[in-house]
Amino acid sequence: MKARGDRITMVTAYDAPSARLADAAGVESILVGDSVATTMLGLDSTVGVTMEDMLVFARAVTRSVTRPLVVVDMPFGSFQPSDEVAVRQAVRLVKEGGAHAVKIEGGGPSTLRASAIVEAGIPVMGHVGLTPQSAVKLGGYRPQGRTPVEAQRIANDAAALERAGCFAIVLEAVPADVAAAITAQLTVPTIGIGAGPACDGQVLVWHDLLGLTEGHVPRFVKAFGALGPAARAALDAYVAEVRSGAFPEARHTYGALEPDRP
Ligand code: KIV
Repeated sequence: MKARGDRITMVTAYDAPSARLADAAGVESILVGDSVATTMLGLDSTVGVTMEDMLVFARAVTRSVTRPLVVVDMPFGSFQPSDEVAVRQAVRLVKEGGAHAVKIEGGGPSTLRASAIVEAGIPVMGHVGLTPQSAVKLGGYRPQGRTPVEAQRIANDAAALERAGCFAIVLEAVPADVAAAITAQLTVPTIGIGAGPACDGQVLVWHDLLGLTEGHVPRFVKAFGALGPAARAALDAYVAEVRSGAFPEARHTYGALEPDRP
């Protein structure tokens, strides 16, 4: 698709109905992101999500789709200790979770882990720029690569991940011109989130895309729907009708069976 100039679509999903909807919409790829920590599990960062959690969400998605490539995030702590640990945990996501590919965050040591996982036969997606698992180290959830030195470091990390065998690289929250330069320099596709229009594809988080996120949303989010308010209106109507006795009506209610005739 990169060679043809066709843009790649990716969205996160964490459960069966969402995965089926994304599949029906024709996305090329679904990411079972560790953003599940904040979107679904009520955690305040992605750091707390476990491998067992990721496996539950990965299975729900992979058993529900037939067409898109399903990439599953390696959670914090599952790949940092050593190449051996990283390979063992990536194998779990494939064998027990049904993942087609895994994603790992960061450059530097993550490049070695990516290489080891690719060597083991598992496709790896890289992720540079704002890497939420190391948000504290990066000084918070803020754009990366805004100085020439930072931009060069991210470009170097992306190039090293490509050399390590990554089949694609997520660029998160980096200036559009930096992302454009990296995209031009790589032969593998870049998938942007807050990285401007020159990336080979785009990814958004399910809840952000559908208008389900409450409170602050990053500048790069576009809500293509307003499902949060729609869901709230439906729930308000349900509560009101139960309290008033308007629901259930006769058509929602079973009658007795006709007695058997001799
Ligand atoms: O976990 C996630 O949803 C992600 C995307 C923001 C790229 O990593």
